[in-house]
Amino acid sequence: MRSNILITLTSLAVASAYPGPPPPPGPGPKYDFKRPGPNDSRGPCPMLNALANHGFFPRSGKNISIDQIVSGIDLALNLDPASSRPVAEFGATTSTTGNPQTVNLADMAAHGVIEHDGSLSRADAITGNANTLNPSIYATFIANFAGKTVITIPDAAKARRARIAAARAINPNFVFTAREDEFSRFETSLYLAVFGTGTIGNAPKKWVEVMFCEERIPYKEGYVRPTDVITNDDLVELATKLITA
Ligand code: HEM
Repeated sequence: MRSNILITLTSLAVASAYPGPPPPPGPGPKYDFKRPGPNDSRGPCPMLNALANHGFFPRSGKNISIDQIVSGIDLALNLDPASSRPVAEFGATTSTTGNPQTVNLADMAAHGVIEHDGSLSRADAITGNANTLNPSIYATFIANFAGKTVITIPDAAKARRARIAAARAINPNFVFTAREDEFSRFETSLYLAVFGTGTIGNAPKKWVEVMFCEERIPYKEGYVRPTDVITNDDLVELATKLITA
């Protein structure tokens, strides 16, 4: 899975723990957004942080089970558990909880597991803390979409490449093999799939900004859990388009 996660994920099938979508426009008071407290754990993934901020995971961000990650993502985003489970399991290999079935969100900053150089909103591990947004790095990323209201696949591809080039230029120990490239494309595919339309991209920029900057699901801005499941094939298709776009 390490070397070819996008392909391997397609072969797995796991039943959804939830029967259907929550009622629109949002999932109800139980899942209201609350900022994390000083003792809560947050990590390098803006979406996992957002899901904890909404209570789809334990709000502490600590001792989250693989099952809770998979079912929380399913309930909030309608992303196929067959796609999220292998990634959640891989993320849990960073666990410092003493239980390999649970993980703290901050554990996932372990460099070289999923966390990699050239992130869209975080400094490289050698130069900064991957668990918090780096405002100046994020500003260079979002500047790629200046004047746009939706993020197209070509624009997302360009922004990703620009971030990799900028990080490479300042980090003498920059590591970006095919493996890091695959994770990075998967992450860009995720925001395009979750907020965009099918496999054609066009994610509302505002929604993407809310995820990165506030670590919040953009319900107030109009996001509704999609009725069609987002499959691993969708993510693979988007990740493939990002190579040539
Ligand atoms: C299935 C469980 C998931 C795990 C274990 C996970 C873990 C991670 C980790 C460790 C990173 C840091 C990579 C880096 O160095 O940049 C990351 C980044 C990212 N994740 Fe997740 N993630 C998961 C699900 C999701 C979902 C459902 C989304 C939906 C939008 C998402 C969106 C992103 C994005 C956009 C980034 C890039 C952040 C950046 O480059 O600054 N992730 N994820």
